[in-house]
Amino acid sequence: MDAFAQASDLSVDGKLYDTDKNLINAHGAGMLYHDGIYYLFGEIKKGTTWRVANQSWEDYRVPAGGISCYSSKDLKNWRYEGVALAPVKGDPKSDIDTGKVIERPKVIYNTKTKQFVMWMHIDAKDYSYSQSGVAVSKTPAGPYHYIKSVKPNGQMSRDMTLFKDDDGKAYLIYSSEQNNTMQVCLLSDDYLHPTKTYSRILINRRREAPALFKNNGKYYLITSDCTGWSANAATYAIADKVLGPYKEYGNPCKGLRANTTFESQSTYVLPLKEKNTYLFMADHWNKTDLEKSDYLWLPLKVENGKVEIINDAKK
Ligand code: GAL
Repeated sequence: MDAFAQASDLSVDGKLYDTDKNLINAHGAGMLYHDGIYYLFGEIKKGTTWRVANQSWEDYRVPAGGISCYSSKDLKNWRYEGVALAPVKGDPKSDIDTGKVIERPKVIYNTKTKQFVMWMHIDAKDYSYSQSGVAVSKTPAGPYHYIKSVKPNGQMSRDMTLFKDDDGKAYLIYSSEQNNTMQVCLLSDDYLHPTKTYSRILINRRREAPALFKNNGKYYLITSDCTGWSANAATYAIADKVLGPYKEYGNPCKGLRANTTFESQSTYVLPLKEKNTYLFMADHWNKTDLEKSDYLWLPLKVENGKVEIINDAKK
C-alpha cells in the first residue's frame, strides 16, 4: 500500500513542523527520494531581514544560513537531519560565507560515483556573481563538502534546478542572460561539471524559479515571472527533449488567487506513486521578514498533456 492515501493529504499551506515540533526551515527546497526515504533540502533563513542599499529592486536579505535537511517516509512526518551544508563565517572570499546568497539547493544521486551531488545558486548580495555551486556527500543527509561554483559555459546562472533523467543523465536548468533567458546544460557523467552541451530556452521570456518534471516521455517546466520576492502567475512549458525547444502554455493554477500562484513561487515538482500525480512545492515568501516565509504544497495533475494545480481553499 502507498505510504499516503491521496496527493491532497500532502497539501500544505503555511508553516511546516518537524517531528520535534520545531518549524521546518527549508526554503527554495528540493526533494531527493532514495532507498524508500524522502529527503527535503532547503535554504535556512534565520535572522533579521535587511534591504541591500542602492539596488533598483527590493533586494531583501537574511544571512546565508546554509542548507538544511529533513527526512520522511510518508512526506508528512519530517525528521530533522541537521545542517546539510554549513555556511562559513567571516570569510567574504568564500562562496558560502554568510554574507553571500545560497539558494534553491537540489540534490541527486550518482550511481557510478555513489555520491550525492548538490547544486545550488551562489551569489553576491547584489546578485552580480550569478554562479552555480556544487557540493558532494557520501550519505544523503550530508554533511556536504562544498567544491566550487561555476558559470556554465561562461553563462550567468541564477534561479536554478536540477533534473536527473531516466537514462541517468543530469541537467542544470537556470535563469541566465540577466534573467532574460533560461538555459539547460547537460552535466558530466559524475554530475560535477557543466558540459559544453547546452541550450537556450524560453528566450527573452524573463522566467525564473524553474521546476522540471517528466510525464509520459515529455518534459514539463514550471516557472515564475521575474518579480523578486513578490508573487506572480506561474506558467508551464512542454518539450519533447529536455534540452528543448519548450512550447509555452498558460498558468497551470486553478482557483482563488491562481494569478499569483496562490501567493507563492515554484521550487520543485515531486513525482508521486499515483499515476500522473505530483506534489507541487512552492514558497510563500515574506519579503520583509524572510525567516517567516512558509510553504505551499499542492497536488499537481497532468491530464491529456495539460497541467493543473488545484487549490480548493475557499479564502
Ligand atoms: C527571486 C528568486 C528567489 C530569490 C529572490 C531574491 O526572484 O526566485 O530565489 O533569489 O528573487 O530577491
